[in-house]
Amino acid sequence: MKIVEVGPRDGLQNESRPVSVEAKVSLIEGLVQVGIQNVECGSFVSAKWVPQMAETSTVLAKLRRVSGVRYSALVPNLQGFEEAVRCGVEEVAIFASASESFSRKNINCSIQESLDRLRVVANEAKARGIRVRGYVSCVLGCPYEGEVPLPAVEHVAGALAEMGCYEISLGDTIGIGTPRKAQAMVEAVAQRIPLKQLAVHFHDTWGQALANILATMEKGIEVVDSSVAGLGGCPYAVGAAGNVATEDLVYMLDGMGIETGIDLAKLAAAGRAIMKVLGRETTSKAALAIAACEKRSD
Ligand code: HMG
Ligand code: MG
Repeated sequence: MKIVEVGPRDGLQNESRPVSVEAKVSLIEGLVQVGIQNVECGSFVSAKWVPQMAETSTVLAKLRRVSGVRYSALVPNLQGFEEAVRCGVEEVAIFASASESFSRKNINCSIQESLDRLRVVANEAKARGIRVRGYVSCVLGCPYEGEVPLPAVEHVAGALAEMGCYEISLGDTIGIGTPRKAQAMVEAVAQRIPLKQLAVHFHDTWGQALANILATMEKGIEVVDSSVAGLGGCPYAVGAAGNVATEDLVYMLDGMGIETGIDLAKLAAAGRAIMKVLGRETTSKAALAIAACEKRSD
Protein backbone atom coordinates (compact mmCIF):
# COMPACT_ATOMS: atom_id res chain seq x y z
CA MET A 1 0.00 0.00 0.00
CA LYS A 2 1.10 3.52 -0.73
CA ILE A 3 0.08 6.22 1.74
CA VAL A 4 -0.02 9.86 0.65
CA GLU A 5 0.17 12.11 3.70
CA VAL A 6 -1.91 15.23 3.10
CA GLY A 7 -1.95 16.62 6.65
CA PRO A 8 0.39 19.57 6.01
CA ARG A 9 -1.92 20.72 3.19
CA ASP A 10 -5.46 19.36 3.54
CA GLY A 11 -5.02 19.14 7.29
CA LEU A 12 -3.74 22.62 7.99
CA GLN A 13 -5.57 24.57 5.26
CA ASN A 14 -8.70 24.61 7.39
CA GLU A 15 -7.07 25.88 10.59
CA SER A 16 -8.20 29.38 11.39
CA ARG A 17 -5.44 30.18 13.89
CA PRO A 18 -2.02 30.85 12.33
CA VAL A 19 0.45 27.98 12.35
CA SER A 20 4.07 29.08 12.10
CA VAL A 21 6.37 28.13 9.25
CA GLU A 22 8.64 26.41 11.79
CA ALA A 23 5.77 24.24 13.04
CA LYS A 24 4.84 23.29 9.47
CA VAL A 25 8.43 22.44 8.59
CA SER A 26 8.88 20.35 11.71
CA LEU A 27 5.58 18.55 11.01
CA ILE A 28 6.71 17.59 7.50
CA GLU A 29 10.23 16.62 8.60
CA GLY A 30 8.80 14.64 11.51
CA LEU A 31 6.45 12.73 9.19
CA VAL A 32 9.30 11.85 6.85
CA GLN A 33 11.42 10.65 9.79
CA VAL A 34 8.76 8.12 10.79
CA GLY A 35 8.66 6.61 7.31
CA ILE A 36 6.21 8.71 5.25
CA GLN A 37 7.37 8.59 1.63
CA ASN A 38 4.80 10.85 -0.04
CA VAL A 39 3.81 14.16 1.48
CA GLU A 40 1.72 17.06 0.22
CA CYS A 41 3.45 20.01 1.83
CA GLY A 42 1.05 22.85 1.14
CA SER A 43 -0.70 24.71 -1.63
CA PHE A 44 -0.10 27.63 -3.96
CA VAL A 45 -3.60 29.07 -3.96
CA SER A 46 -4.81 32.59 -3.33
CA ALA A 47 -3.97 33.78 0.19
CA LYS A 48 -7.28 35.65 0.17
CA TRP A 49 -9.07 32.34 -0.26
CA VAL A 50 -6.95 30.17 2.04
CA PRO A 51 -4.80 32.35 4.32
CA GLN A 52 -3.24 29.39 6.15
CA MET A 53 -1.37 28.30 2.99
CA ALA A 54 0.10 31.76 2.29
CA GLU A 55 3.59 30.75 3.43
CA THR A 56 3.98 27.50 1.51
CA SER A 57 6.95 28.89 -0.43
CA THR A 58 8.78 29.67 2.84
CA VAL A 59 7.92 26.23 4.20
CA LEU A 60 9.42 24.60 1.11
CA ALA A 61 12.50 26.83 1.25
CA LYS A 62 13.21 25.84 4.86
CA LEU A 63 12.45 22.15 4.49
CA ARG A 64 15.40 19.76 4.62
CA ARG A 65 14.43 17.30 1.93
CA VAL A 66 15.32 13.63 2.13
CA SER A 67 16.15 11.92 -1.14
CA GLY A 68 13.63 9.33 -2.28
CA VAL A 69 10.73 11.12 -0.58
CA ARG A 70 8.11 12.70 -2.83
CA TYR A 71 7.24 16.23 -1.72
CA SER A 72 4.33 17.78 -3.59
CA ALA A 73 2.14 20.87 -3.51
CA LEU A 74 -1.42 21.59 -4.59
CA VAL A 75 -1.91 24.14 -7.38
CA PRO A 76 -5.16 25.49 -8.87
CA ASN A 77 -3.78 27.23 -11.97
CA LEU A 78 -0.68 28.24 -13.91
CA GLN A 79 0.16 31.02 -11.45
CA GLY A 80 0.28 28.53 -8.58
CA PHE A 81 2.21 26.05 -10.71
CA GLU A 82 4.90 28.60 -11.61
CA GLU A 83 5.35 29.45 -7.92
CA ALA A 84 5.57 25.76 -7.00
CA VAL A 85 8.24 25.20 -9.63
CA ARG A 86 10.19 28.20 -8.34
CA CYS A 87 10.17 26.49 -4.93
CA GLY A 88 11.74 23.36 -6.37
CA VAL A 89 8.69 21.12 -6.23
CA GLU A 90 9.01 18.03 -8.41
CA GLU A 91 5.38 17.03 -8.17
CA VAL A 92 2.18 19.08 -8.19
CA ALA A 93 -1.38 18.08 -7.44
CA ILE A 94 -4.18 19.64 -9.46
CA PHE A 95 -7.84 19.46 -8.50
CA ALA A 96 -11.26 19.63 -10.09
CA SER A 97 -14.74 18.91 -8.81
CA ALA A 98 -17.39 16.49 -10.02
CA SER A 99 -19.99 18.98 -8.76
CA GLU A 100 -20.59 22.27 -10.53
CA SER A 101 -21.58 24.20 -7.39
CA PHE A 102 -18.56 23.04 -5.40
CA SER A 103 -16.29 24.01 -8.28
CA ARG A 104 -17.67 27.55 -8.24
CA LYS A 105 -17.44 27.87 -4.45
CA ASN A 106 -13.96 26.36 -4.19
CA ILE A 107 -12.17 27.82 -7.19
CA ASN A 108 -14.60 30.38 -8.59
CA CYS A 109 -15.12 28.79 -11.99
CA SER A 110 -17.09 26.04 -13.73
CA ILE A 111 -15.86 22.46 -14.02
CA GLN A 112 -15.11 22.96 -17.72
CA GLU A 113 -13.19 26.18 -17.09
CA SER A 114 -11.16 24.44 -14.39
CA LEU A 115 -10.32 21.53 -16.71
CA ASP A 116 -9.23 24.00 -19.40
CA ARG A 117 -6.95 25.76 -16.90
CA LEU A 118 -5.57 22.51 -15.57
CA ARG A 119 -4.77 21.23 -19.06
CA VAL A 120 -2.44 24.22 -19.46
CA VAL A 121 -0.78 23.35 -16.14
CA ALA A 122 -0.45 19.68 -17.08
CA ASN A 123 1.11 20.52 -20.46
CA GLU A 124 3.58 22.89 -18.84
CA ALA A 125 4.42 20.27 -16.21
CA LYS A 126 5.02 17.66 -18.89
CA ALA A 127 7.36 20.02 -20.74
CA ARG A 128 9.37 20.55 -17.54
CA GLY A 129 9.39 16.94 -16.35
CA ILE A 130 7.21 17.56 -13.30
CA ARG A 131 4.86 14.80 -12.13
CA VAL A 132 1.19 15.67 -11.86
CA ARG A 133 -1.33 14.05 -9.53
CA GLY A 134 -5.04 14.80 -9.95
CA TYR A 135 -7.88 15.08 -7.45
CA VAL A 136 -11.57 14.75 -8.13
CA SER A 137 -13.67 16.32 -5.37
CA CYS A 138 -17.22 15.48 -4.33
CA VAL A 139 -17.07 11.94 -5.72
CA LEU A 140 -19.70 10.71 -3.24
CA GLY A 141 -21.66 13.87 -2.59
CA CYS A 142 -21.55 17.65 -2.66
CA PRO A 143 -22.15 20.08 0.22
CA TYR A 144 -24.33 22.21 -2.07
CA GLU A 145 -25.96 19.77 -4.51
CA GLY A 146 -26.26 16.58 -2.48
CA GLU A 147 -25.92 13.47 -4.63
CA VAL A 148 -23.35 13.60 -7.44
CA PRO A 149 -24.00 11.36 -10.47
CA LEU A 150 -21.26 8.80 -11.16
CA PRO A 151 -20.92 9.82 -14.84
CA ALA A 152 -19.85 13.28 -13.63
CA VAL A 153 -17.12 11.68 -11.49
CA GLU A 154 -16.01 9.48 -14.40
CA HIS A 155 -15.93 12.48 -16.73
CA VAL A 156 -13.66 14.60 -14.51
CA ALA A 157 -11.41 11.66 -13.55
CA GLY A 158 -11.11 10.75 -17.25
CA ALA A 159 -10.23 14.32 -18.19
CA LEU A 160 -7.47 14.46 -15.55
CA ALA A 161 -6.07 11.11 -16.72
CA GLU A 162 -6.07 12.27 -20.35
CA MET A 163 -4.11 15.37 -19.33
CA GLY A 164 -1.39 13.07 -18.04
CA CYS A 165 -2.01 12.79 -14.28
CA TYR A 166 -0.08 9.69 -13.21
CA GLU A 167 -2.54 9.12 -10.35
CA ILE A 168 -6.11 10.25 -9.75
CA SER A 169 -7.24 10.62 -6.15
CA LEU A 170 -10.98 10.24 -5.69
CA GLY A 171 -12.08 12.63 -2.94
CA ASP A 172 -15.07 12.20 -0.68
CA THR A 173 -14.72 15.84 0.30
CA ILE A 174 -17.56 15.84 2.83
CA GLY A 175 -17.02 12.30 4.10
CA ILE A 176 -20.56 11.26 3.35
CA GLY A 177 -19.95 7.99 1.48
CA THR A 178 -20.54 4.48 2.76
CA PRO A 179 -18.69 1.31 1.69
CA ARG A 180 -20.97 -0.06 -1.04
CA LYS A 181 -21.32 3.39 -2.62
CA ALA A 182 -17.56 3.86 -2.44
CA GLN A 183 -17.04 0.50 -4.18
CA ALA A 184 -19.56 1.35 -6.90
CA MET A 185 -17.85 4.69 -7.49
CA VAL A 186 -14.39 3.10 -7.78
CA GLU A 187 -15.75 0.41 -10.11
CA ALA A 188 -17.36 3.05 -12.31
CA VAL A 189 -14.17 5.11 -12.59
CA ALA A 190 -12.09 1.96 -13.13
CA GLN A 191 -14.02 1.30 -16.33
CA ARG A 192 -12.23 4.32 -17.71
CA ILE A 193 -8.92 4.49 -15.84
CA PRO A 194 -6.78 1.51 -14.76
CA LEU A 195 -7.27 0.72 -11.06
CA LYS A 196 -3.51 0.95 -10.52
CA GLN A 197 -3.78 4.66 -11.34
CA LEU A 198 -6.49 5.37 -8.76
CA ALA A 199 -6.22 6.54 -5.16
CA VAL A 200 -8.87 7.24 -2.54
CA HIS A 201 -9.20 10.30 -0.32
CA PHE A 202 -11.81 9.96 2.38
CA HIS A 203 -12.74 12.65 4.85
CA ASP A 204 -14.13 11.15 8.03
CA THR A 205 -17.11 13.39 8.78
CA TRP A 206 -19.52 10.49 9.25
CA GLY A 207 -16.95 8.04 10.66
CA GLN A 208 -16.94 5.96 7.47
CA ALA A 209 -13.43 6.62 6.17
CA LEU A 210 -11.69 3.43 7.33
CA ALA A 211 -14.65 1.27 6.28
CA ASN A 212 -14.64 2.95 2.87
CA ILE A 213 -10.90 2.45 2.51
CA LEU A 214 -11.16 -1.24 3.29
CA ALA A 215 -14.09 -1.61 0.92
CA THR A 216 -12.18 0.04 -1.93
CA MET A 217 -9.05 -1.99 -1.13
CA GLU A 218 -11.22 -5.06 -1.72
CA LYS A 219 -11.84 -3.65 -5.19
CA GLY A 220 -8.11 -3.28 -5.82
CA ILE A 221 -7.21 0.20 -4.54
CA GLU A 222 -3.57 0.37 -3.38
CA VAL A 223 -3.09 4.10 -2.76
CA VAL A 224 -4.73 5.95 0.12
CA ASP A 225 -4.52 9.59 1.22
CA SER A 226 -4.57 10.33 4.94
CA SER A 227 -3.82 13.07 7.38
CA VAL A 228 -1.83 12.74 10.60
CA ALA A 229 -4.03 13.16 13.69
CA GLY A 230 -7.04 13.31 11.35
CA LEU A 231 -6.35 16.99 10.71
CA GLY A 232 -8.27 19.01 8.26
CA GLY A 233 -11.14 19.67 5.98
CA CYS A 234 -11.86 22.03 3.13
CA PRO A 235 -12.71 25.66 3.91
CA TYR A 236 -15.31 25.51 1.12
CA ALA A 237 -17.00 22.37 2.47
CA VAL A 238 -18.17 23.76 5.79
CA GLY A 239 -18.55 21.15 8.54
CA ALA A 240 -16.48 18.53 6.72
CA ALA A 241 -14.07 16.76 9.06
CA GLY A 242 -10.45 15.92 8.39
CA ASN A 243 -9.15 13.02 6.37
CA VAL A 244 -8.88 9.57 7.82
CA ALA A 245 -6.13 9.75 10.45
CA THR A 246 -2.83 8.32 9.18
CA GLU A 247 -2.35 6.61 12.57
CA ASP A 248 -5.69 4.77 12.24
CA LEU A 249 -4.90 3.73 8.67
CA VAL A 250 -1.42 2.46 9.60
CA TYR A 251 -2.83 0.57 12.60
CA MET A 252 -5.38 -1.15 10.38
CA LEU A 253 -2.83 -2.02 7.69
CA ASP A 254 -0.28 -3.24 10.27
CA GLY A 255 -2.97 -5.46 11.78
CA MET A 256 -3.73 -6.89 8.35
CA GLY A 257 -0.05 -7.66 7.77
CA ILE A 258 0.22 -5.03 5.03
CA GLU A 259 3.59 -3.32 4.93
CA THR A 260 3.65 0.51 5.05
CA GLY A 261 7.19 1.22 6.22
CA ILE A 262 5.77 3.64 8.82
CA ASP A 263 6.57 3.41 12.54
CA LEU A 264 3.17 3.79 14.22
CA ALA A 265 4.37 4.83 17.69
CA LYS A 266 6.65 7.50 16.24
CA LEU A 267 3.89 8.64 13.87
CA ALA A 268 1.59 9.09 16.87
CA ALA A 269 4.27 11.22 18.51
CA ALA A 270 4.45 13.40 15.37
CA GLY A 271 0.67 13.76 15.56
CA ARG A 272 0.86 14.75 19.24
CA ALA A 273 3.44 17.42 18.42
CA ILE A 274 1.22 19.17 15.84
CA MET A 275 -1.87 18.89 18.05
CA LYS A 276 0.09 20.58 20.84
CA VAL A 277 0.77 23.45 18.44
CA LEU A 278 -2.91 23.60 17.52
CA GLY A 279 -4.01 23.32 21.17
CA ARG A 280 -6.51 20.55 20.47
CA GLU A 281 -6.99 16.82 21.04
CA THR A 282 -6.23 14.46 18.17
CA THR A 283 -9.16 12.82 16.37
CA SER A 284 -7.13 9.66 15.74
CA LYS A 285 -8.51 6.74 17.74
CA ALA A 286 -5.23 4.84 17.34
CA ALA A 287 -3.24 7.82 18.64
CA LEU A 288 -5.52 8.07 21.68
CA ALA A 289 -5.13 4.34 22.33
CA ILE A 290 -1.35 4.58 22.06
CA ALA A 291 -1.33 7.52 24.48
CA ALA A 292 -3.49 5.55 26.95
CA CYS A 293 -1.17 2.51 26.73
CA GLU A 294 1.90 4.70 27.25
CA LYS A 295 0.26 6.29 30.31
CA ARG A 296 -0.56 2.88 31.80
CA SER A 297 3.02 1.65 31.37
CA ASP A 298 4.50 4.80 33.00
P1 HMG B 1 -10.10 34.12 -8.41
O1 HMG B 1 -10.39 35.23 -7.46
O2 HMG B 1 -11.19 33.71 -9.36
O3 HMG B 1 -8.74 34.39 -9.20
O4 HMG B 1 -9.65 32.86 -7.54
P2 HMG B 1 -8.36 35.35 -10.36
O5 HMG B 1 -7.64 34.56 -11.41
O6 HMG B 1 -9.54 36.21 -10.77
O7 HMG B 1 -7.29 36.31 -9.64
C1 HMG B 1 -7.66 37.11 -8.53
C2 HMG B 1 -6.45 37.35 -7.65
O8 HMG B 1 -5.97 36.09 -7.15
C3 HMG B 1 -5.28 37.98 -8.39
O9 HMG B 1 -4.59 38.81 -7.45
C4 HMG B 1 -4.38 36.82 -8.71
O10 HMG B 1 -3.02 37.19 -8.81
C5 HMG B 1 -4.58 35.94 -7.47
P3 HMG B 1 -4.89 40.41 -7.37
O11 HMG B 1 -4.60 40.90 -8.77
O12 HMG B 1 -6.33 40.54 -6.99
O13 HMG B 1 -3.93 40.85 -6.31
N1 HMG B 1 -4.29 34.53 -7.75
C6 HMG B 1 -3.41 33.81 -7.03
N2 HMG B 1 -2.67 34.11 -5.96
C7 HMG B 1 -1.87 33.12 -5.46
N3 HMG B 1 -1.82 31.89 -6.01
C8 HMG B 1 -2.55 31.55 -7.07
C9 HMG B 1 -3.39 32.53 -7.63
N4 HMG B 1 -4.24 32.53 -8.68
C10 HMG B 1 -4.78 33.77 -8.75
N5 HMG B 1 -2.47 30.32 -7.58
C11 HMG B 1 -8.44 30.80 -7.28
C12 HMG B 1 -9.33 31.64 -8.18
C13 HMG B 1 -8.35 29.42 -7.86
C14 HMG B 1 -7.05 31.44 -7.22
C15 HMG B 1 -9.06 30.80 -5.84
O14 HMG B 1 -10.40 30.42 -5.96
C16 HMG B 1 -8.37 29.85 -4.92
O15 HMG B 1 -7.23 30.08 -4.55
N6 HMG B 1 -9.03 28.75 -4.52
C17 HMG B 1 -8.41 27.71 -3.73
C18 HMG B 1 -9.37 27.08 -2.81
C19 HMG B 1 -8.68 25.98 -2.05
O16 HMG B 1 -7.47 25.97 -1.88
N7 HMG B 1 -9.48 25.02 -1.57
C20 HMG B 1 -8.96 23.91 -0.81
C21 HMG B 1 -8.20 22.93 -1.64
S1 HMG B 1 -9.23 21.79 -2.54
C22 HMG B 1 -9.61 20.55 -1.40
O17 HMG B 1 -9.33 20.69 -0.24
C23 HMG B 1 -10.21 19.26 -1.89
C24 HMG B 1 -9.18 18.12 -1.93
O18 HMG B 1 -8.60 17.89 -0.67
C25 HMG B 1 -9.86 16.81 -2.40
C26 HMG B 1 -11.12 16.51 -1.63
O19 HMG B 1 -11.11 16.46 -0.39
O20 HMG B 1 -12.12 16.27 -2.31
C27 HMG B 1 -8.05 18.42 -2.93
MG1 MG C 1 -9.53 16.79 0.95
